[in-house]
Amino acid sequence: MRAQPFANCLLLGLVLFVLATPGFAQDDARPRKAKKSRPLTEYMGREIAMTMHYAGAEWLIRNEREREERCSLLLDNLGLKTGMTVCDMGCGNGFYALPIAKLLGPRGRVLAVDIQPEMLFLLRERMELEGIRNITPILGSVDDPYLPEQTVDLAILVDVYHEFGFPEQMLAALRKSLKPNGRIVLVEFRAEDDDVPIKPEHKMTKRQVNRELAANGFKLAAEFEELPWQHVMFYEADPDWQPKEDR
Ligand SMILES: C[S@@+](CC[C@H](N)C(=O)[O-])C[C@H]1O[C@@H](n2cnc3c(N)ncnc32)[C@H](O)[C@@H]1O
Repeated sequence: MRAQPFANCLLLGLVLFVLATPGFAQDDARPRKAKKSRPLTEYMGREIAMTMHYAGAEWLIRNEREREERCSLLLDNLGLKTGMTVCDMGCGNGFYALPIAKLLGPRGRVLAVDIQPEMLFLLRERMELEGIRNITPILGSVDDPYLPEQTVDLAILVDVYHEFGFPEQMLAALRKSLKPNGRIVLVEFRAEDDDVPIKPEHKMTKRQVNRELAANGFKLAAEFEELPWQHVMFYEADPDWQPKEDR
């Protein structure tokens, strides 16, 4: 007679044990999200730069920037057309996202990605001030920009690629986000030129950019070398490239 409550307790205990044991009650065939590894500090022989902190955001919108970097010349040579979808990867406070959104017109849009919510807050403030509605701010993570697939005509990366702690994951995500004829464009301070007044780890040589992009399935499609301080390198997905695990 007294065995019944004991058996009930035993059963309850067993159920609680099963539910509390990690993975015990899960279907093992179900894919699980891989644990994040640590960000790299070096990639293909290059030191990776620290993320530029949002406290320095004012520097991005300084008055001298146009004279120093000739930003309007860059905008004129990006091949922007009305109605395009452009990703501004590492948009900061929107120095480029805002004028690009205007150039694309109401049918175009900018997907403005950054990993610092404070940068996106500053971007939203500037959008409101200028009445701009065709920018979608996206809070990315260090290894995933959360972009929709096959959507982007052009992804611009101004002064940001060298900060990626997960360059391979970021480039893979960018590759997936591109439309079939989509491109990415890297704008990087010239490491070949000692007169460019930027810290060495925030600069890149053309050779290094090419090595890293080629290793990740991109081929150089065009270049623009008329800016005073920066390389401008356009890449397309290389259709013959295979990711490491498929080789
Ligand atoms: C030097 S700022 C350049 C900002 C902007 N592109 C410009 O030219 O004004 C670099 C920005 O890239 C962002 N960033 C760094 N790593 C990133 C990543 N993995 N995904 C998205 N943004 C990133 C930083 O938070 C920072 O706002």
